[in-house]
Amino acid sequence: MCVRPPVMAVALVTGASRGLGLATALHFARMGGRVVAGVRDPAGADALLRVSAEEGLALDVAALDVTDPTSVDTAVAGLLERHGGLDVLVNNAGLGLAGAIEETGDDDARLLFETNVLGPLRLCRAVLPIMRGQGRGVIVNVSSIAGRVAAPFGGVYSATKFALEAMSEALHYEVGCFGIRVAIIEPGAFATGFHDSRLVADPDDVSAYAGRRRRWEAAAAGLPGRDRPGDPAAVAAAVYEAATNEDHPLRRPVGTDAELIAQLRHDLDDASFEHTVRSALDFWD
Ligand SMILES: NC(=O)c1ccc[n+]([C@@H]2O[C@H](COP(=O)([O-])OP(=O)(O)OC[C@H]3O[C@@H](n4cnc5c(N)ncnc54)[C@H](OP(=O)(O)O)[C@@H]3O)[C@@H](O)[C@H]2O)c1
Repeated sequence: MCVRPPVMAVALVTGASRGLGLATALHFARMGGRVVAGVRDPAGADALLRVSAEEGLALDVAALDVTDPTSVDTAVAGLLERHGGLDVLVNNAGLGLAGAIEETGDDDARLLFETNVLGPLRLCRAVLPIMRGQGRGVIVNVSSIAGRVAAPFGGVYSATKFALEAMSEALHYEVGCFGIRVAIIEPGAFATGFHDSRLVADPDDVSAYAGRRRRWEAAAAGLPGRDRPGDPAAVAAAVYEAATNEDHPLRRPVGTDAELIAQLRHDLDDASFEHTVRSALDFWD
């Protein structure tokens, strides 16, 4: 018999220095949670700490680089010592990459998998013994609609998010009987620094793919939801809902574009989906 907890108390959010992670950490704290905000560089967490102090939130910052096993273990040990347990892990830290498959080098691909796949895996390994010992816990993994559907020039990024979704789905089966729930959030386009901080495989924009990549990205930017990237607060609320609603589905797309793409992918076979995408973006060559 699996017993699931209703509400979170202590939450760890990775990649909380800015963007969706910052919004999520503040949202959890505003909803009454005790939040450990994992950031690579605590000296750069001024904005988070200022808002937290102004609002009297129960939020502290921990140094956490998800690509560094020692950093992960130290952050989780510190959290355990300070709070005595952990109810929610939000694997949010992530990195993007724009570029064709052929032009993506090993170093960029490795960094992407280190950050988006091995990072969450390390965090899961570190917190699961705590959650199993408690007999409760929730892990929310921030994927992407690109974790459901791969688009040209986003293949390696999609590969990391497909991998994250596969791990999450398997984990969901493995840990449910310990009272641990797993949820995947799949945002569409949201207004953060994600686009500007992504890796670019062809930064000089000169490869054989450059013209088609520019054309694809310009057309995709005009799709419903992409034309006006959403407010990170919507993702923060969706992550909180995933953490606190026992009946939350395993996967949830968030944002107009993500919901539309997920629905089309669900309704159409491969050929019909491809035809719809090519027609919508006028991308036939
Ligand atoms: N924004 C979107 O449109 C969108 C859409 C779909 C999915 N997502 C996903 O949402 C998540 C958050 O993205 P975002 O939009 O908030 O992007 P963002 O504004 O670029 O923020 C990324 C965050 O991840 C952190 N990070 C990167 N590498 C890290 C590492 N090795 N260890 C710890 N933290 C690290 C960054 O920390 P620093 O400040 O130290 O760099 C930053 O806090 C990502 O997983 C992304 O794939 C975003």
